[in-house]
Amino acid sequence: TWNMGDYMRSSIAAIREKVGSGKVLLALSGGVDSSVAAALIAEAVGDQLTCVFVDHGLMRKNEGDEVEAAFRKWDLHFVRVDAEARFLGKLAGVTEPERKRKIIGEEFIRVFEDEAKKIGRVDYLAQGTIYPDVIESGAGDAAVIKSHHNVGGLPDFVDFKEIIEPLRLLFKDEVRQLGRELGLPEYLVMRQPFPGPGLAIRVLGEITREKLDTLRDADAIFREELANAGLAYSVSQYFAVLTNMRSVGVMGDSRTYDYTLALRGVTTTDFMTADWARIPYDVLDRTSARIVNEVPHINRIVYDITSKPPATIEWE
Ligand code: XMP
Repeated sequence: TWNMGDYMRSSIAAIREKVGSGKVLLALSGGVDSSVAAALIAEAVGDQLTCVFVDHGLMRKNEGDEVEAAFRKWDLHFVRVDAEARFLGKLAGVTEPERKRKIIGEEFIRVFEDEAKKIGRVDYLAQGTIYPDVIESGAGDAAVIKSHHNVGGLPDFVDFKEIIEPLRLLFKDEVRQLGRELGLPEYLVMRQPFPGPGLAIRVLGEITREKLDTLRDADAIFREELANAGLAYSVSQYFAVLTNMRSVGVMGDSRTYDYTLALRGVTTTDFMTADWARIPYDVLDRTSARIVNEVPHINRIVYDITSKPPATIEWE
């Protein structure tokens, strides 16, 4: 009978045979697919693999460190590029959502290209393409290059023989199972979809480091409260959005004039349509109370009760 352990072992053998003594390059986004692809290839060819993790400074709280920590067990070349200053510089003053996406996509390619040049020879470019990507569904944390590039994921700036996509035949739940089999931590394997442009499209309007930090802290509290309530894996995607609306509040004896934070939670199977998640009031209540208490500059919390369509899951 077929099981994931057997599948893993035969994949590892196949990758070893194909790659031989060649060098493999992979863009690691920290999402489920690229992480599992990286772990599988690392298990097969170890330090012949270089993973380039472009840290654009638009990740959630602690996310970059978590991704890096998960890969310590393999003897691979793990390159984390701290590109926050580059990205925030390019994004300064930009408010239009599609322009944000375009800037981030282009800058990502540039940073990745700079790293690829430093590496020198690349024989294989690896990607975490999974079966639904192949049959074209679309949403979620598909390989970073693909989601930014949208052309089948072949960057023309790296000279390589062939592209390898070891997850091509797997569905998402099988990819997660394979990740577990490889020893990736549960928080990585069960990670919810996260858009390539990251928090840049969850800070509405102009992006600053301060706003990103505010959003990161609020979002971390929301995730923690959902986890405490046992809902982390039943709500398909959930996150906080920092609106650029401010309103009047009161704290102690004085009035405040601070930001409104929106919480979003959806249930969906395909991310093409989605219903807003019926998160219990007491969970929302705890989340709200904690955020206004613990995170400066937020004095009002709203919960998004629109489905997709007509709303999208993200706000930008
Ligand atoms: P929307 O907001 O269009 O999102 O309902 C559907 C799914 O796609 C994700 N999303 C993105 N993923 N790059 C990505 O890699 C993007 O620019 C992007 N925009 C939205 C979103 O998080 C949801 O899972």
